[in-house]
Amino acid sequence: MFLAQNRKCFIAPSILSADFTRLRDEVVDVEQAGCDWIHVDVMDGHFVPNLTIGPPVIHWIRKTTKLPLDVHLMIEEPIRYIDEFRKAGSDLITVHVEACRDVKQTIEKVRVSGAKPGISLRPRTDISEVVPYLNLVDLVLVMTVEPGFGGQQFMSEMLEKVRYLKPRFSGFISVDGGINLETGAQTAREGANVFVAGSAIFKESNRKAYIEKLRKSVA
Ligand code: DX5
Ligand code: ZN
Repeated sequence: MFLAQNRKCFIAPSILSADFTRLRDEVVDVEQAGCDWIHVDVMDGHFVPNLTIGPPVIHWIRKTTKLPLDVHLMIEEPIRYIDEFRKAGSDLITVHVEACRDVKQTIEKVRVSGAKPGISLRPRTDISEVVPYLNLVDLVLVMTVEPGFGGQQFMSEMLEKVRYLKPRFSGFISVDGGINLETGAQTAREGANVFVAGSAIFKESNRKAYIEKLRKSVA
């Protein structure tokens, strides 16, 4: 499902910036525009100062698209909800290293559920914090803004984390926050291969043209 597309780079629009009154159409639109995954931001108002959506909405997104659902859990103690997120249709489930009491156990729970596990870290968390888990996960999500909101500015200091991961991790290296044509190209040069973009894609009326440009800029 993931690599059958024979791609080196994956474009994952973050529906946080979609028009939620037309969520189904927005998902269908970016799918038809040629994106690879749908990125879903889950926030609990504790781990981050914002609230978004949970398993019921993911359940309905699952019914509208065949694309992999890349679910980014910005919630405290995500282990409590892994089975629900998997049952709702998540394909990749990424948890934050800062949010888990037992990171290894949480990752294992994701693996056993049948989803692909990912680990993420906030901008101020040192990359060394995720190193013990690199052999357990399929994806590392490098936050390139402070998690919580779309539309923020890319933090170029995070390029160093991608650079560090490149020779040490053979899975998906995902970048999330402030990704556009320019920052997509910068992160790709350092080794990123999954590009999460919310506002840059959804503010465009022609998403297909933008995704094509983004794909070229990260190629
Ligand atoms: C922020 C989320 C991101 C966000 C990205 O906490 O994890 O996925 O939607 O939005 P942009 O691309 O607008 O920075
Ligand atoms: Zn995200």
